[in-house]
Amino acid sequence: MENDLIKKLYSEVAFEELSTEVVKELANHISNTTNGKNEKTIRWNTPEKELKFWLDFLENGRNDEFISEILKRTTHTHHPKYVGHQVAAPSPITALTSMVSSILNNGMAVYEMGMSPSAIERIVTDKVCAKIGYGSNSGGFLTSGGTLANLTALLSARKAIVKHDVWNEGHKGQLGIMVCEEAHYCVDRAARIMGLGEQGIIKVPAGEDYSLNTDLLNTCFQQAKAKGIEIFAIIGSAPSTATGAYDNLHAIAQFAESKQIWFHVDGAHGGAAIYSKKYKHLVTGIDKADSVVIDGHKMMLMPTITTALLFKDKRHAQHTFSQKADYLLNDTAEDQWYQSGKKTFECTKTMMSLHWYVLLKFYGEAIFDEFVTRQYDLAQEFAEMVQEHPSFELATWPQSNILCFRVIEDSKSNEELNDLNARIRQLLLEDGEFYLVQTKLRGVLYLRTTLMNAFTTKSHLSDLLEKIVAVKTTV
Ligand SMILES: Cc1ncc(COP(=O)(O)O)c(C=O)c1O
Repeated sequence: MENDLIKKLYSEVAFEELSTEVVKELANHISNTTNGKNEKTIRWNTPEKELKFWLDFLENGRNDEFISEILKRTTHTHHPKYVGHQVAAPSPITALTSMVSSILNNGMAVYEMGMSPSAIERIVTDKVCAKIGYGSNSGGFLTSGGTLANLTALLSARKAIVKHDVWNEGHKGQLGIMVCEEAHYCVDRAARIMGLGEQGIIKVPAGEDYSLNTDLLNTCFQQAKAKGIEIFAIIGSAPSTATGAYDNLHAIAQFAESKQIWFHVDGAHGGAAIYSKKYKHLVTGIDKADSVVIDGHKMMLMPTITTALLFKDKRHAQHTFSQKADYLLNDTAEDQWYQSGKKTFECTKTMMSLHWYVLLKFYGEAIFDEFVTRQYDLAQEFAEMVQEHPSFELATWPQSNILCFRVIEDSKSNEELNDLNARIRQLLLEDGEFYLVQTKLRGVLYLRTTLMNAFTTKSHLSDLLEKIVAVKTTV
């Protein structure tokens, strides 16, 4: 046995040949999607048919057609008619840093296994902290996704605020968090993972515009207290997922301070507004948060999965997973910023800092300002188009680049309209020219768009409205 397969697997020549082909194919893909030459954003297939295709391909498919088949059978975030879920159309340069990370595979848990990406991560997170408006005690790290980052932040909050040592001794009494009913479901999930149970998740009702109704904060807190629930954290969404509404972070910060509880901002989607000169007012008060999450793979043009978790006081990052009962921060402890695994939930992670750094190095923070501002502006223009069109109704005026609307017909009941809009969305999915999603708000089903793509223009959005009108006639 000469280990022929292994030699082949690592062949430099084969790698260069293959990667040249793949890069060519991806470059073509980017060009043909961003310019809209490819007609479809998604070529819909049922899960069963897709499964059958790939089972068959494993036996009979041609190796040189693998990538092209993947391209045909996936959703094209780079297409200007992609207005679906909140994932970026990643900048091509960050696809290259993904490749570098994959080849080097430095696992990052300890400094030696990722020297440059650890130093780079420190630089990147320090810069985000400065942009948030944090002082010199701040710091953070990168981790694998907003869901994990929100859980980590709440674990930090519990360690910092709750007087007894939950990490070592388990719960004594009922702990709780406060969060708007409109927040992303991962906050609810994090609280349940932490053993708070349903009773420990105090859902604050949203106001008319779907943001947290800050008038109800005190009542919700007192009601929970009367039931013996010890609230240790409150979460503000910047913005929430379904409608893109920003909570009033300034008011929540004041409330958190008055109750001496942790204030966490879930800015997974729109925390990036810190970079927009025009829209940063939406996150006024974010600098008062004890912790903030921002996803690079949503509004910051990076590939999945790249998330920053930032702390106003970086010592909290060191203590979250520490076995010692050191919730009273120890000033003299060495700041081991370079030991990622001590701070992160995961042990091994990718070298995600490279994506953030390469964008800063090549384009500066201006790229984030330009992108966020463009997309949020476009949502305002789209809202005007929807509002002026007699066939449509807005759910609420957009605050970010998330916009929900629905088809209306005077003769139809709410239930019939829900069915009609759901049917339209299914037909649009099967048609594949556009990709958008749906959501239910207060029992009403809306078509939901997130303007994630820098190539989407008013003209594409006008085409979308006309397409929906045409599809409606076939229902
Ligand atoms: C507000 C908000 N928080 C958290 C998440 C979860 O982030 P991730 O998908 O990176 O885990 C999302 C995802 O859409 C979100 O919109």
